[in-house]
Amino acid sequence: MNMNRRHWLDWVLKGVTGLYGLVLAVPLVKFLQSGEGETEEKVSQIKLEKNVVPEPGTSKIFKFGSKPGILIRRMDGTVHALTATCMHLGCTVDYSKEEDRIACACHGGRYDASTGANISGPPPAPLTQLKLEEKADGFYVSKN
Ligand code: FES
Repeated sequence: MNMNRRHWLDWVLKGVTGLYGLVLAVPLVKFLQSGEGETEEKVSQIKLEKNVVPEPGTSKIFKFGSKPGILIRRMDGTVHALTATCMHLGCTVDYSKEEDRIACACHGGRYDASTGANISGPPPAPLTQLKLEEKADGFYVSKN
């Protein structure tokens, strides 16, 4: 009698564990089949209109594939393009004119406005610098 109860409990636990695994596996399989996350890899260059380049001390967020990028014109007039997804937990960063740094409002991360190097706070890695090329018909942003 005791063995039957133990045997039954063993099967119930196996069934619950199997269902739990199935519940976790279905969304994962759907995600892998959807191709989400591949968009950014396919985009290697985008064009921005000439007038998108901001005034000195300002920035502009733009879409680079499925991810945000940031275009910064520092007070010295130099223009930089970088990825704008914080390397900590993925918030979109912004430029702080007062600090002349890229700032993440979520947890206080700071990055160098020219190189994207992570300077302080929790971000474990730098932002990626994007190549910025000025041509007659606009600015071309591409991965290095
Ligand atoms: S998400 Fe940017 S510092 Fe945490």
